[in-house]
Amino acid sequence: MRLFVVNGPNLNLLGTREPQIYGSQSLDDIQRMVDDRAKELGVELEWRQSNHEGGVVDSIQESASADGLILNAAALTHGSLSVRDALLAVDVPFVEVHLSNIFAREPERRKSVMADIAIGVIAGFGAKSYVLGLESLVDYLRLREGSG
Ligand code: DQA
Repeated sequence: MRLFVVNGPNLNLLGTREPQIYGSQSLDDIQRMVDDRAKELGVELEWRQSNHEGGVVDSIQESASADGLILNAAALTHGSLSVRDALLAVDVPFVEVHLSNIFAREPERRKSVMADIAIGVIAGFGAKSYVLGLESLVDYLRLREGSG
């Protein structure tokens, strides 16, 4: 099984960026932790990060070749129709993840333009949100395989 992990704007600054909200782990630290869990699960992960909306769209399009996608679209979550359109176009099963609990933050962050087309949303567990996203997506895909 091969999955994409796509990260949006400013997530390259994790570790130093508003650590009181996003924690002290860098994206590389998170990648190492999630890759370790993926190895245990026998899953291959391809990581992408872009500070540009088009870069995130490109990575989502690229994920069409994979079995699934873990997506933290960062601020694009709250308003990017091009990211939503890319997800609809590739139709790859995906889990939306956030480090912070977006539903407990400013009103503009409480809405997601992609949550309704995701398998599910995991928010508020810090770096662990990625691990939970991975485990949930793998369970979902394996169950689907078994029943398909
Ligand atoms: C975020 C939440 C977004 O509102 C914010 O713009 C981010 C990170 C999160 O992981 O908590 O950049 O997606």
